Amino acid sequence: MKVTAQAQPNIALVKYWGKRDLARNLPAVSSLSITLDSLWTRMSVSFGGAGTDSLEVNGAVAPTMLDRVSGCLDLVVGSERECAQVVSESNFPIGAGLASSASAFAALVVAADEAAGSGRDTLMLARLAGAASGSAARSLYGGIVELTAGIDEIDLRNLAEHDEWPLEVVVAVTEKGQKPVGSGEAMVRGAGTSPFYSSWIERQDEDMKCARTAVAERDFASLAHIAEHNCLKMHSVMWTSRPPIVYWNKATLGCMEVVRSLRAAGHSVFFTIDAGPQVKAVCLPESADAVEAALSATHGVVQTMRSGLGTGARIIAT
Ligand code: PMV
Repeated sequence: MKVTAQAQPNIALVKYWGKRDLARNLPAVSSLSITLDSLWTRMSVSFGGAGTDSLEVNGAVAPTMLDRVSGCLDLVVGSERECAQVVSESNFPIGAGLASSASAFAALVVAADEAAGSGRDTLMLARLAGAASGSAARSLYGGIVELTAGIDEIDLRNLAEHDEWPLEVVVAVTEKGQKPVGSGEAMVRGAGTSPFYSSWIERQDEDMKCARTAVAERDFASLAHIAEHNCLKMHSVMWTSRPPIVYWNKATLGCMEVVRSLRAAGHSVFFTIDAGPQVKAVCLPESADAVEAALSATHGVVQTMRSGLGTGARIIAT
């Protein structure tokens, strides 16, 4: 049976950076994210026969990602399984700091679980997705999502459904190429070499608390404040890793400046940046047109994309 699942990327407002357990890919910190709706990855999975797994990404054979996909399928279905044919399609640039691995692995576990007839619940699927890509666990859920990092496993819950606080996101793409250092390798380097890593870990629960309260009170200004602070702290760990990891380019800085000026002009907007040079501006719906116009006119921005909040990963065809 061929099963297709869709998941959307999620953007962390309180970031996951650092691993407690490398082998099980357990995060060292809790995180809080929003799941998007208009950017998506669709994964089709079917099992059949012996031989080797195959993977096609956006119409081309993708041998470099095959090991990670096969490893994830082993976790979902068991390593004694039949071989899998996996076809992935995304409507946004992949491997460029736009959380494509989150949507890909979230969709993959949902499709594989259904194709194998395992019937796991959302939390179990999220834990499996998280073992493949830490941030992918959050894309199993929609709206505003909290991931709690436990000693032996992660827990997840919805803080608000996608229509309970209609935030908008404008993504400013400043470069479409693949990122120079993958997030997994960068996290390990940061933990081993950045003098700021231990305080990053120590302060995270405090940031989570602020963000959780801001969400509960629908207090955009407080959410903006903590999200920018947490993002800049994560990038400070990256910058002070040895050798340093700097994902930003000139346009990244230009976009941050534009977001600050929009805010000074009265718009409800803040920025966040992940392991790449793209800037994600989160805003209230009434500011979205102005934010998109200003970011698309910013020097070095090659594309903007806009999204509201969406639902979690789901089956779309069997
Ligand atoms: O899930 P990974 O291993 O691609 O790590 C994602 C890390 C960040 O995107 C930078 C932060 C986050 O919480 O999503």
